[in-house]
Amino acid sequence: MANTLQQHKYNIAIAATGVVVGFVAAKLLNSKNPPLPPSVPELNDKPHPVPKPKVEPKNEEESVYETQKYVNEYLLLHYGEADEVLRHSFVPMDSLEFPRRVGKECLDAYKSVDKISRANNKRQSEMICESRSKLPNRAFDVGCGLGRTTFELAREFEECIGLEKSQSFVDACNELKQNGEMTYHVCEEGDVHSTYKAKIDPEIDRSRTKFIQGDACNLSSDLGQFSCVVAANLICRLPNPYKFLERLPHLVAPGGLLVLTTPCTWLTQFTPKKYWLGGHYDQNGKPVTTFETLKRILGPNFILIEEKNMRFFIRETARKNQWVVTQATIWRRR
Ligand SMILES: C[S@@+](CC[C@H](N)C(=O)[O-])C[C@H]1O[C@@H](n2cnc3c(N)ncnc32)[C@H](O)[C@@H]1O
Repeated sequence: MANTLQQHKYNIAIAATGVVVGFVAAKLLNSKNPPLPPSVPELNDKPHPVPKPKVEPKNEEESVYETQKYVNEYLLLHYGEADEVLRHSFVPMDSLEFPRRVGKECLDAYKSVDKISRANNKRQSEMICESRSKLPNRAFDVGCGLGRTTFELAREFEECIGLEKSQSFVDACNELKQNGEMTYHVCEEGDVHSTYKAKIDPEIDRSRTKFIQGDACNLSSDLGQFSCVVAANLICRLPNPYKFLERLPHLVAPGGLLVLTTPCTWLTQFTPKKYWLGGHYDQNGKPVTTFETLKRILGPNFILIEEKNMRFFIRETARKNQWVVTQATIWRRR
């Protein structure tokens, strides 16, 4: 009996200690996380107007361009007005409308095809006799993104194919083709977004364009030949750029044009190192540039006409932008 009483007292003592420890712990916790002062406003948890991606990303490497964030950022890159992209007077305005400028480079080079032929013949370095009238009236924009360059090419070419790996991008291109415009949302900061409208110039005949989903490294064999093939900032996003480059002599008609731009941002996330065209050292320890490799691979079938820098902005938020200097090369098929 005395033992039972002793045990009972002992239990009560343990329980009481537990209550005291719990109370002290709660006090300590509370002092570490004091209640929010009344000046911190309640968050508005109402859903903001940014739509969910149509295609959910499967993994980071493969699906980076499938997310709605990228669709919005690329809509702004392709169609944004100056005051929508850049809010500050001190930023370089000549970095805007990159995909429109790529289209213009293609069209300008195409319009000088006859001049280039004459110049080449004069120097007797090459015999490229094709005049514009003999070339197929078709253009191909590989990795077309949100389609601005494809639409610009339709100012001149009767058939313009834009090929994209991302189904979300193809869907957006088709919406632009069908309606001539598309609403999208751009991040200002955090959850706050502005709503803009991408518009295609009404002077462009949108029925000349066709957007298809596909893989630049595994292009279908029945695409035919084009007067102009353009791949803007594509090659360093490919799992095997050599496979794409191998197809180019078949895709560009003799006398036709190839326009490549690349920021040479080689990343193993997209391209295994063994397929990097540049940005590595050769067996003798000499640095290899993308440009050198392009000249080596394309040289037998293409003449380099021009190499130049092209600038552009990709706006992430109102205060964070990527400023890129991409290397553009224009080639003529032998
Ligand atoms: C850096 S973005 C450039 C987009 C556009 N040409 C421009 O200048 O804004 C690269 C594009 O290539 C596409 N792409 C990546 N891998 C591809 C592949 N294997 N075949 C076709 N397109 C691909 C991406 O979805 C993305 O739209």
